[in-house]
Amino acid sequence: MSLKLAVLPGDGTGPEVVREALKVLAAIAKDEGIEYTTQDFDYGGDRYLSTGEIINDEQIEELRAFDAILLGAVGHPDVKPGILEKGLLLRLRFALDQYINLRPVKLYPGVDTPLKDKGPEDINFDVIRENTEDLYCGNGGILRKGTPQEVATQEMIATRFGAERALRFAFEFCKRKKEAGEGKGLLTLVSKTNVLTYCGDLWFRAFEEIGEADYPDIKRDYNHVDACCMWFVKNPEFYDTIIVPNMFGDIITDLGAMIQGGMGIAAGGNINPDEGGTSMYEPIGGSAPKYTGQDVINPLAAIGALAMLLQNSGYKKAGDRVEEAIKKTTPKLKSLSAGKMGYSTTEVGNLVVDNL
Ligand code: IPM
Ligand code: MN
Repeated sequence: MSLKLAVLPGDGTGPEVVREALKVLAAIAKDEGIEYTTQDFDYGGDRYLSTGEIINDEQIEELRAFDAILLGAVGHPDVKPGILEKGLLLRLRFALDQYINLRPVKLYPGVDTPLKDKGPEDINFDVIRENTEDLYCGNGGILRKGTPQEVATQEMIATRFGAERALRFAFEFCKRKKEAGEGKGLLTLVSKTNVLTYCGDLWFRAFEEIGEADYPDIKRDYNHVDACCMWFVKNPEFYDTIIVPNMFGDIITDLGAMIQGGMGIAAGGNINPDEGGTSMYEPIGGSAPKYTGQDVINPLAAIGALAMLLQNSGYKKAGDRVEEAIKKTTPKLKSLSAGKMGYSTTEVGNLVVDNL
């Protein structure tokens, strides 16, 4: 068995953080006897600016042949916002049917949280965001553009199929965590059923039906998304596993990233859990163009993405070891913010390697 990785360093500081993640991969692979290959792809802003192309169908097919993808960052200061996000990141999520966006919210040792009196034991949960439907489908349009009578619509799409496969993944995930002694078996659906009386209702019914029939041992809870934001700040210890549709999931995971110490540490996985599916792991912060090339950006989120990649690609022990090494590294940093870590990007990568 050999792990076949596609590497998309992307824009801005993406290449620097990916370089550190690959350094950690080389070290852990050597130690654990993991065989792997990597192939680099230069999709992103620079390629787009020089060729006018982002990624085409054939290139996506090529990526499908890999076991997993490690992505650095998408977003370029000279490219209008939305083009690369839609043309590359969302395109890959949809084309590779990565219908789960797994975003752990864990406060690691020694990391500052803006929440008063909360520690690592309080901030430790997983958000599972549906990743292929909802307002992200791009259905809609503009009529009479540029006139006073202009009309714009953008439709929220929920399908029973889409909700159900995400919910089943979430129930299984929550169950496995409970069995491993890492969770209390509590799955919270986050939506806005009091306003989204169609899409929210579909999700709520699927949640109740699947839970009732197949997961009687998992405790079900429901939060409106606005209340959920309040609880993230007030009582984060309440959460174990959250399942949430795409748009609300996008929003609450930025709040989640902040309470776990910021974008320097937050990692996520765009997962296609089906047999033979190709998943893509990424630091969830952006490309931070103003720090490009200065060796000051925090690589821990990218290294965390690598840990998730290994954990979810059949190398659980290696992934856990990388995560443990991150936990031994965080107490040494002055801050998680770019330029304030007390170490360079390269040095933080080295620290993780030393702590493996
Ligand atoms: C994220 C990002 C993307 C999203 C953007 C860049 C399209 O915010 O990964 O959370 O909205 O999903
Ligand atoms: Mn986001």
